[in-house]
Amino acid sequence: MSIETANTLNAAWAGASPAEAISLALDYFGAERIAFSTSLGAEDQVITDILWRNNLPAPVFTLDTGRLPEETYRLLEETRKRYGLAIEVLFPEAETVQKMQSEHGPNLFYESIENRRLCCRARKVEPLSRKLSTLSAWICGLRRSQSVTRHELQLVEWDETFGLFKLNPLVLASEEWIWEYIRDNDVPYNELHDKGYPSIGCAPCTRAIEPGEDIRAGRWWWEQPELKECGLHSAHAHQR
Ligand code: ADX
Ligand code: SF4
Repeated sequence: MSIETANTLNAAWAGASPAEAISLALDYFGAERIAFSTSLGAEDQVITDILWRNNLPAPVFTLDTGRLPEETYRLLEETRKRYGLAIEVLFPEAETVQKMQSEHGPNLFYESIENRRLCCRARKVEPLSRKLSTLSAWICGLRRSQSVTRHELQLVEWDETFGLFKLNPLVLASEEWIWEYIRDNDVPYNELHDKGYPSIGCAPCTRAIEPGEDIRAGRWWWEQPELKECGLHSAHAHQR
């Protein structure tokens, strides 16, 4: 039923620009039932700029895992000021993190996939899940060409994991298009992007890539590419 609705919306909104797609989604879901989830990555900075430039009233939130790079906090500050934007900051539950780190240590994610997923669940998925339970749709910066796990992505997805719709306004955008937009519109971006980090997550789980490496090669670099999703965007949420 919900997958059918996503298919219907994809057919109706085919060919819409990113700004048009967000505008259509705001009308369809209602501005109080949709929100933009920003990691402050390059794609998300483009979406923030599109919202501001087109006066699109989607609320914006971010997940502060507590392990973000200092550069990301600096960009959060700069973005708030540049756009006069109130970005809601979501934290993990203190008790969950206390228990996890007391049991497994602060850098548990390097020990096993299970530990890595435990940390992602506590620091990202649970806070996100609490937020998404108040919404009908969320806006994300996912693109098809980012990863092998994202090649099938649609503009509108039924997100089975969290039970709401997901709008990916940049689904078809290329890496080149993103950077052209950032340059043309003087969009603030994470200084780590200039230091070999195309994709940025938590500090201990992100490294710079070598020339020629895949753009997500620096995320959880010790794991297999097909396992590299943190639970925010599970592969099965993309199936039709
Ligand atoms: S991840 O699953 O590997 O971490 P990625 O970094 O590619 O995701 O980001 C994809 C989209 O997920 C972003 O465009 C953003 O919408 C959302 N997202 C990822 N990390 C966060 C975060 N810390 N806070 C809010 N949204 C996030
Ligand atoms: Fe924890 Fe790393 Fe996941 Fe961040 S990316 S929540 S530090 S495992």
